[in-house]
Amino acid sequence: MSQKVFIFDTTLRDGEQVPGCKLNTKEKLELAVKLEELGVDILEAGFPVSSPGDFESVNQIAKTLKNTVVCGLSRAVQNDIEVAAAALKPAKRFRIHTGIGTSDLHIKHKFNSNREEIIERAIKAVTIARNFTDDVEFYAEDAGRTENEYLARVIEAVVKAGATTLNIPDTTGYCLPHQYQEKMAYLYNNVPNIDKAVLSCHCHNDLGLATANSIAGVIGGARQIECTINGLGERAGNTALEEVVMILNQHKDLGFYTSINPKLLNTISREVSETMRMMVQPNKAIVGANAFSHSSGIHQDGFLKEAQTYEIINPAEVGADESKIVLTARSGRSALAHRLHKIGYQFTRNEIDELYPIFLEIADKNKEVLEADLQEMAGGYKK
Ligand code: KIV
Ligand code: ZN
Repeated sequence: MSQKVFIFDTTLRDGEQVPGCKLNTKEKLELAVKLEELGVDILEAGFPVSSPGDFESVNQIAKTLKNTVVCGLSRAVQNDIEVAAAALKPAKRFRIHTGIGTSDLHIKHKFNSNREEIIERAIKAVTIARNFTDDVEFYAEDAGRTENEYLARVIEAVVKAGATTLNIPDTTGYCLPHQYQEKMAYLYNNVPNIDKAVLSCHCHNDLGLATANSIAGVIGGARQIECTINGLGERAGNTALEEVVMILNQHKDLGFYTSINPKLLNTISREVSETMRMMVQPNKAIVGANAFSHSSGIHQDGFLKEAQTYEIINPAEVGADESKIVLTARSGRSALAHRLHKIGYQFTRNEIDELYPIFLEIADKNKEVLEADLQEMAGGYKK
């Protein structure tokens, strides 16, 4: 039987940290409602102590959402946790996300501390958070570069203190997929009380591996993925929600499912892009403008005979517009005939053979042959 992977969306927290993507309360609230419709299990609404505006946003989202667990970020600092709890209080269900850096680099340079003291601070933060809710997530920042044995000790201690979700962030996007998978598996197999909590992937994309690492983490034992729409997030971004959801959907053999409605993926992608004023790269998987466009003659010919030759996803499944046959100088006769047919011209094979050199001349001049060019070419030919 397949197992559920919880989707923890952090578009409004890690995603919103992108320069230029800052949202006001109204914008955050509108997107939160759409993310709930999409089916995210947990929505990280913000970092309440960071500003009065973010407190207000988290508070409004907490008042509005009906089913989704609303989460607020805090450092392992008493005031942060108390402020997060106050912002989240009106929610039907809420989670406090607290944590501290655990790599030697963070312990030395950020905290001027030592490993034992960090464990004490982690325990204290989780204990304080548990005074407000039973749903406490602990993050071991820079877990990707934290030695596994020490990380296991931290995790065991915070589970004992009451943490119910364990975020293992690859904060700097450093890990290779097999390393991240081994790290999860190490924790899953060596932390004695791990059955009392859910392991979570939080991967950054500095080496373009965020999605691969998240899937590897799930194979290693995690049952939650932290991700953002369009892969937005600090620096090179976070794991893209649409990618992990469709990977688990396409590879049913892995044995996992999510609660996301894939038909809403393209709509939410556009809404996030417009609200955050951050364009989506055209070649972005699942939601990019070219994700379902075919331009080379070989591909177009195969696609027109049978779509599955060059498409593993039907665009309707992810709410995208129908597949496009784009006409360029690399396109062949079948693509040309197809596009002419779409605008009402039925040409014989011989006629297409005669039109094709004219088409190539236009295509070599222009980057793309548009409908107006086709109309002119076909109209002229018919006269
Ligand atoms: O990348 C990271 O480590 C984070 C934590 C604050 C969860 O975003
Ligand atoms: Zn992050």
